[in-house]
Amino acid sequence: MIALGSDHAGYPLKLEIIKYLDAHGYEWKDFGTFSTESCDYPVYGEAVARAVASGACDRGLLFCGTGIGISLAANKVPGIRAAACSDVFSAEMCRRHNNAQILALGARVVGAGLAEKIVEVFLNTEFEGGRHARRVALIDAIK
Ligand code: RB5
Repeated sequence: MIALGSDHAGYPLKLEIIKYLDAHGYEWKDFGTFSTESCDYPVYGEAVARAVASGACDRGLLFCGTGIGISLAANKVPGIRAAACSDVFSAEMCRRHNNAQILALGARVVGAGLAEKIVEVFLNTEFEGGRHARRVALIDAIK
């Protein structure tokens, strides 16, 4: 199950990515927002991060204007590693090396086509483990 969340700025891109997820058979749950009416991105970043941290959802996709604010909010939840990515290489590496469970996208930064590719890579790339597991554990140990 993929947890989705956005603010008003990210909402249109979230709709585009929902089309992609549906076309590829992914199950998802949308934690809001549900319109382009102005709202506060930390609310949705936290909701998705808690859904992932609890194990209710396996991965999360977040959307705001830049992907930055909503990822910062998600990263406040213990155990969560949310990566704001605007390119395919970063999306691959945040999985292979950082074991990021949440990808954050900026609707004012990337177009729908690139965002789809970034999501595809994020969802289909596994964590390498090994020395990277030690480093990820060190991140998680920071309180
Ligand atoms: C909203 O205007 C904007 O600040 C928000 O979507 C996001 O980009 C914040 O990081």
